[in-house]
Amino acid sequence: MPTKRFKAVIPAAGLGTRFLPATKAMPKEMLPVVDKPAIQYVVEEAANAGIDDILVIIGRNKNAISNHFDSVPELEVKLREKGDDARLLRVLESSDLADIHFVRQGEPKGLGHAVLRARAHVGDSPFAVLLGDDLIDERDELLTTMMAEHERTGAAIIALMEVDPDHIHMYGAAAVEETGTDDVVRVTGLVEKPAKEDAPSNLAIIGRYVLGPEIFDVLEHTEPGKGGEIQLTDALQVLAADPEGPGVYGVVFRGRRYDTGDRVDYIKAIVQLASDRDDLGPELRPWFKEFAATL
Ligand code: G1P
Repeated sequence: MPTKRFKAVIPAAGLGTRFLPATKAMPKEMLPVVDKPAIQYVVEEAANAGIDDILVIIGRNKNAISNHFDSVPELEVKLREKGDDARLLRVLESSDLADIHFVRQGEPKGLGHAVLRARAHVGDSPFAVLLGDDLIDERDELLTTMMAEHERTGAAIIALMEVDPDHIHMYGAAAVEETGTDDVVRVTGLVEKPAKEDAPSNLAIIGRYVLGPEIFDVLEHTEPGKGGEIQLTDALQVLAADPEGPGVYGVVFRGRRYDTGDRVDYIKAIVQLASDRDDLGPELRPWFKEFAATL
């Protein structure tokens, strides 16, 4: 377990336009993935890595997110009266994961801008940024490796994953060099959502970062980039190109990642996670087979 006290920042201020009308009155981070809202998986991932101070950057409709992590005494009383201990435990767990704080993004000016809003709360701590569209299977390890790499190198650490070159335009893409350590690479360049022919590799940034507070000074001076937004990728490119600094390293993830950012991938994530679960899988798996045979 890393020794430094890390905080976590979860940007959750996106408009969720791909899921309208479901996200008209509810943030996309609250969409259920099986029986938990997507953001709870991300909060659990941070808590499992030993982080107990989490800042969520919120947009409009913030109440659903803050209410979710708060306790609901009347619901707890009802479940206790009914003797429904299993559900009671799940409800209690969701309000006892970490110390969760909220700050508003104000105008949505991009991921880099959202992260900059964390400056006052994060202070001088190293911190992890976790994006809710990417869910990392809790059985596969990523964040603690990244935190340990940050402690070892003092560098900014990003999570990378090999993707189909036809999909690289949906991600930040990294140019890298080997380091001699398996699945740890030095990042020599970064470009946000390049066209396939301009991509430096098929290594995509998946939504996990472990950063030091120096990123804030860079973000202060980062001009709007791709899509007219202040991009975290552009700020990291400045660190990667700085010969004086510790640079940027990538941890290449080869485990299970679920993308909940678009509708088809969101449905796939639910199907995969539900079919793996002990309580739901045994009933679902034969049905999936039968259903698939009708297609
Ligand atoms: C953001 C980042 C991008 C990264 C992606 C991972 O993009 O800007 O570099 O690859 O998250 O999910 P978004 O998907 O928010 O547009």
